[in-house]
Amino acid sequence: HFAMLEQPRLKGKKVVVTAGPTQEKIDPVRYFTNHSSGKMGYAIAEQAQREGADVILISGPTALPCPKGVKRVAVETAQEMYEAVTGQFADADIVIKAAAVADYRPKEVFTEKRKKQPGEWAIEMERTIDILKTLGEQKQSQLLVGFAAESEKVEEYAAKKLEAKNLDLIVANDISASGAGFKGDTNIITILTRDGKTKQYPLLSKQEAARRIFDELLDYMKRQQQ
Ligand code: CTP
Ligand code: CA
Repeated sequence: HFAMLEQPRLKGKKVVVTAGPTQEKIDPVRYFTNHSSGKMGYAIAEQAQREGADVILISGPTALPCPKGVKRVAVETAQEMYEAVTGQFADADIVIKAAAVADYRPKEVFTEKRKKQPGEWAIEMERTIDILKTLGEQKQSQLLVGFAAESEKVEEYAAKKLEAKNLDLIVANDISASGAGFKGDTNIITILTRDGKTKQYPLLSKQEAARRIFDELLDYMKRQQQ
């Protein structure tokens, strides 16, 4: 029998995806990070590849194998991710920032392992660069897709991020809901586009969610051309 082939809707497009957490060093053996597994971003990269795109996956540390046909660039820190993404930005058609970038990093990085000492240890933290916001300021014809991890007022906060970072589309997830968020194989997403469309989805596998994200993005692109 013949399998129905999916239409390669992204043929000839360069799609840059970021995924996973970042790790912010304290000393050679310690770092700050978050619970991101990278699964959502990897599912997006895999879907983009299936749709015929040339895919660059810029990934923080994860346990996941690189999807077939995808070019992976491994990074650790927010700063390294920033440099890798900006290096791919000029000729990108679509940039999807699924990574859970650390908002803060230790102000001082110790070059030697810090020995334990009596009493407390306070670590001063400084802000990392907001990669997506910077891309939003620089963008020309690129389509920019962001994520919003929220535990309350999901749509309201996501709409603010879409505006503040000059995005075309934002995928909001309610990390307080069961079946959604950083670690599992499923997600509950709401997709908001720049032209004011909002769509809520039920519990989906991350593969299925990735497909819906491209459905919405391609619809948005069609509306822009009209
Ligand atoms: N992001 C980024 N660089 C950062 C922080 C976040 O590019 N330093 C991106 C994420 O990849 C995501 C989007 O911005 O696509 C939103 O991330 P989120 O953590 O939800 O929002 P923040 O803007 O960091 O705000 P807050 O954490 O305070 O809600
Ligand atoms: Ca954040």
